[in-house]
Formats: sequence, structure tokens, C-alpha cells
Amino acid sequence: MAKRIDVSGLNAYYGSFLAVEDISMTVEPRSVTAFIGPSGCGKSTFLRTLNRMHEVTPGGRVEGKVLLDDENLYGAGIDPVAVRREVGMVFQRPNPFPTMSVYDNVAAGLRLNGKYKKAQLDEIVEKSLKGANLWNEVKDRLNKPGSGLSGGQQQRLCIARAIAVEPKVLLMDEPCSALDPISTLAIEDLIGELKERFTIVIVTHNMQQAARVSDRTAFFNLAAVGQPGKLIEIDDTERIFSNPSVQATEDYISGRFG
Ligand SMILES: Nc1ncnc2c1ncn2[C@@H]1O[C@H](COP(=O)(O)OP(=O)(O)OP(=O)(O)O)[C@@H](O)[C@H]1O
Ligand SMILES: [Mg+2]
Repeated sequence: MAKRIDVSGLNAYYGSFLAVEDISMTVEPRSVTAFIGPSGCGKSTFLRTLNRMHEVTPGGRVEGKVLLDDENLYGAGIDPVAVRREVGMVFQRPNPFPTMSVYDNVAAGLRLNGKYKKAQLDEIVEKSLKGANLWNEVKDRLNKPGSGLSGGQQQRLCIARAIAVEPKVLLMDEPCSALDPISTLAIEDLIGELKERFTIVIVTHNMQQAARVSDRTAFFNLAAVGQPGKLIEIDDTERIFSNPSVQATEDYISGRFG
């Protein structure tokens, strides 16, 4: 079966600085993959190469291939905007559009992408908010500003906004690091539900979180500051946390460094 994501020989640069080097990995559809590793090893940089966001940074440049369902996202004639529709992103800090209502936040991507009748929009907004486990909390305040929600609610609003356009893949860069423990558990539960419909890649510094939510875990590391980050190993999460192949992985997950 085709892989949802198939990366080979990927290098990512900022100007002349090689930030991540020679990454190859695959991701199955409807799975959760966690990226772990010490600060600066290139997790966020690599994540952003998966939806062509890296090149938005000045000097950002990518070599190698990222296949999404067998199509190279870096091939000739590929529209990065279309890629970002297929591969959505949720950031560390919840970033709802501050002046927009809850409803408009969720509908924003849909309105950019096509013409929908009001009734259709209503339906997708409700489905997306339900999908993000937020509907019950906001159904009576759909026309209030999204920025008036709690941090955890805002993050679920951002997830609702991301899933409203039905992406194939959802990238999440430390989506819980600004949240309290209850909101964090709510997002973790949600990830378990969302993987029935989407393929998820999540960066986390929380080992328990990686162990709880992911099917596969990728450990990244760098030899020294200024050296490129590399993928050390990727395997079933259970195996990474019980019996990794590489000593550095074991040292990292047992808290000996990083
Ligand atoms: N905009 C940028 N311009 C230049 N270098 C950058 C930029 N963003 C990141 N880097 C560098 O690229 C390397 C990888 O950074 P990245 O943010 O991907 O690491 P990370 O693993 O996500 O770290 P953290 O766990 O702290 O979020 C680091 O050396 C970092 O300093
Ligand atoms: Mg990061």
C-alpha cells in the first residue's frame, strides 16, 4: 500500500546553514507519528518541510523529496498553497484570527477555497467543531470573537479550523505546550479520535505524551550546536520507549540528556 508520506534524502537550510540533514522516513495513513529530540535538533524545521512552510522563512530552502500519496510536493508545477490545504498545521500558541468570530474562524479556510452556501457552511462548521470536541462549549457563542475563548478552547478552535478543509495530514508543533493539564488531556483524546480520519504528525517535548498518543516515534538529535539535526531512528512507539536500537535514543528518553 502507498505510504501517506514518503520522505527521502531531505536537507533543509536557512541560508547556508544546514539545519536538518538527509532525512528519510515514511508515515502510514491514519496513524500518529511523534517527533522527539533535544531543542535545536530540527523537529520544527523538518515538520514545516512537510507542507512547504519552510520555504516561507527567508533563506529557507529544501533539497530531496516529500511524496504525499506518491506525488512529490517539491515537484515541478506543484502549488504550495494547494499543498498547505492538503497538509494542515496547528501551532504551539493557539492563533485564532483575533477579530473573527468562532464561526468565521472555522469557516475561514473554506471561504478562501470555494463558494459554499450558508447552509453548507453551517453544516461544515458544526461538524468541524464537533470533530474538535468544542461544539458543546461554543454552540451558543458562535458569533463571539474566537479570541474570547480559553487557551485550550482556542487550540481546539484552531484544530477545528484546520480540519474544516478536510486535509489528508495534520501537522502539530507542540500543540499542548501552552496549555494546562486538563486541556492537554482534551487535545490528546482528540488526537486519538482524529487519527480515524487524518494522518497526524506531532512534535512534543513530553515523553509521556509521545508514548500516549503516537503509533510511531521518530527520535532526532544533533552532534553539537551548529551541526545539522538528523533522524536517529524511527520505530513503533512501544519499541522506542522499551527497547530502542540506538543508545542515544535510550539516553534521551530516560532523561540522561536533552
Ligand atoms: N528562522 C531561522 N533562521 C535561522 N536558523 C533557524 C531558524 N529557525 C530555526 N533555525 C535553526 O535551525 C536549527 C533547528 O531549529 P528548530 O526550530 O527546527 O529546532 P527544534 O528541534 O524544533 O527545537 P525546539 O525543540 O527548541 O523547538 C537550530 O539550529 C535553529 O537555531
Ligand atoms: Mg521546535
